[in-house]
Amino acid sequence: MSHHPDATPAPSAAPPVTIPTLQAWRAEGRRIVMVTAYDAAMTRLVDPVVDVILVGDSVGNVCLGFDNTLPVSLAMMNHHVEAVARARPRALLVADMPFLTFHLDLADTIRNAGGFLQRGAAAVKLEGGVARVPVVQALVSCEIPVMGHLGLTPQSVNAMGGFKVQGRAVAQARRIIDDARRLEDAGCFSLVLEGIPSELAARITESLTIPTIGIGAGPDCSGQVLVLHDLLGLLPGRKAKFVRTYVDGYGLLQAGLEAYAEDVRAGRFPGPAESYALPEAARAALDAPDGGD
Ligand code: KIV
Repeated sequence: MSHHPDATPAPSAAPPVTIPTLQAWRAEGRRIVMVTAYDAAMTRLVDPVVDVILVGDSVGNVCLGFDNTLPVSLAMMNHHVEAVARARPRALLVADMPFLTFHLDLADTIRNAGGFLQRGAAAVKLEGGVARVPVVQALVSCEIPVMGHLGLTPQSVNAMGGFKVQGRAVAQARRIIDDARRLEDAGCFSLVLEGIPSELAARITESLTIPTIGIGAGPDCSGQVLVLHDLLGLLPGRKAKFVRTYVDGYGLLQAGLEAYAEDVRAGRFPGPAESYALPEAARAALDAPDGGD
């Protein structure tokens, strides 16, 4: 990659994915592919392949070095949403509402979520069940589409006592089923189901008309989401049961870096192909005894 403007690829010609597109795909049974992205370069990589791009608050633990998503602020999310939006993806761009940006006051919540749309997102995602119904209603009434998020909701890590599969007990499973219905009724256009038994996710998907997007929720959701760095194998030592790693990204990138370091140390890089020549006339002038004056 260079800093040259010509290095920026032209935006994709494929039609943009919209919320009605997802609704139609759900009705047709066409599965939805979603991944996270946090910057423009990765957005350009994933955009030709996927349907939905989530600027997840997982940026906190994936990119920013936090142990969980709780320290991620609105300012951090705005920074990453802007970076992703600058790549002008054709995939639907969803921005995650971070901890404490949708809990306190409806006016602030609308401002925070609306700010994501003003920065180029098409929708927001927020965690939680029935307690979020007034928030979802308020956002939807302001033309801010909302994706819900149920099950293992990482912002509840303390209440859950860790990142644990949810909905294995009957009462909890019933609550998640009820939450899903309430969120659909409140106006969510889609729901992420995270870390719940496959059969529970299948029942919820069956009972709703909006698409469900699973992560650790089995094969019967309307679509699937993974953290990009997980599926590309960029985070060695971080492998949850529900992740499938499609490429040893860390190994490949490390090999590339080692080759670069060896070339630099051995004087093989840069070579003539990566260097600029002095024009002949300038060389002659510089070589002249009077320095070309
Ligand atoms: O923040 C995130 O990446 C998410 C997805 C894993 C659903 O919420």
